[in-house]
Amino acid sequence: MSCDCSNTPSNQPPSPSERRGVMLKLGIGLMGIGGAIASIPLIGYAITPALKKYKNSWIDLGGTADFPEGETRLGKFTNPNASPTDGASAEQAVWVRSYKPAQFQVFAVNCAHLGCPVKWFQQSKLFMCPCHGGVYYEDGSHASGPPPRGLFEYKWKIENGRLLIDAGRLPGLEQTV
Ligand code: FES
Repeated sequence: MSCDCSNTPSNQPPSPSERRGVMLKLGIGLMGIGGAIASIPLIGYAITPALKKYKNSWIDLGGTADFPEGETRLGKFTNPNASPTDGASAEQAVWVRSYKPAQFQVFAVNCAHLGCPVKWFQQSKLFMCPCHGGVYYEDGSHASGPPPRGLFEYKWKIENGRLLIDAGRLPGLEQTV
């Protein structure tokens, strides 16, 4: 017994609705692949900070006695993440405020507006930015001018009478004053 297979439905050309279904599945598949490729940079952006290693995070700024209570003084250190080609730009500065015994605030010198170095004025007890007139109170909070927030702060700790700051990582927007 033989079969005349040329008349089976599988040999018929697909109907328009079947073609639409195939094209729809193909389109969804291609969009999925495109979406996966487009999301790679976003995923990288999200997880890179967690994977990044910061070396020599804790940097010695000096003895705590170098930063007397009631004063705000400039502290200097070399960026532990600097490369040999950075030259003088590897040298960094911070403002260190000692406001109680063994209590400090360590501010990035860069203005929270566009990054100009702010200067401390002891008499008025204000930080002022020479670029656009940004002003900060002694605790780093925003006083006036264009900066959208206060000065960024470094984490700090005291070990064996030395003031250390977490300088492997620049203070950023994840921090609040
Ligand atoms: S950079 Fe300081 S006010 Fe603009």
